[in-house]
Amino acid sequence: MKIRKAQLEKIAVNKKQYPSPHLPEIAFAGRSNVGKSSFINSMVNRKDLARISGKPGKTRTINFYNINDQFRFVDLPGYGYAKVSKAEKEKWGPIIEEYLSNRENLIEVILLVDMRHEPTELDLMMYNWIKFFGYSGLVIATKADKISKGKYQSNINMIKNKLNIEDPELIIPYSSAKNINKDLVWKILEDKLLI
Ligand code: GTP
Ligand code: MG
Repeated sequence: MKIRKAQLEKIAVNKKQYPSPHLPEIAFAGRSNVGKSSFINSMVNRKDLARISGKPGKTRTINFYNINDQFRFVDLPGYGYAKVSKAEKEKWGPIIEEYLSNRENLIEVILLVDMRHEPTELDLMMYNWIKFFGYSGLVIATKADKISKGKYQSNINMIKNKLNIEDPELIIPYSSAKNINKDLVWKILEDKLLI
């Protein structure tokens, strides 16, 4: 995929603030700190397009990134971060639900989970939501550079079992740090975007 343009187009927390729906969108959901913003940066070859932080809870809004004026990547607020206030914790659910249930140009929602750890109950809830809304259930297993290749299969199985996934090919190990499987993910996304 040749990236000619990658730009933060809009930051939103509610429907009124979303950009016009004339471009197809692919959204990324997952726990705080799982690597959503890093994933977007690595896919579009930019170091600091999406803000990254050592501190979890960085992205608390819906951030729309325009790619090549062809489609958008949508960085959803991360959930499950223990150290934010209760009020803050309760925000992500309605923000994500409003987006998932109202976006006619949303063609795919992809769940990111940390490949090293068993997905949480919130991950399972998010994944069930994604499937309920009719999306394919693709999972990106991040930070694959932090485990040895020999552990890939058992960790994929752990994710598969926790999220009740039948087809293990839906789970793709990925590393933003080492660009592991970047070409494969682009191929899958290009197919979905018909580009
Ligand atoms: P929120 O915005 O809080 O929801 O987090 P996020 O999901 O956007 O995570 P972010 O991309 O900010 O990454 C969190 C931390 O994980 C940062 O310190 C990243 O450098 C690190 N990280 C992300 N992806 C990878 C990866 O593939 N490999 C390694 N080793 N570290 C990664
Ligand atoms: Mg982020």
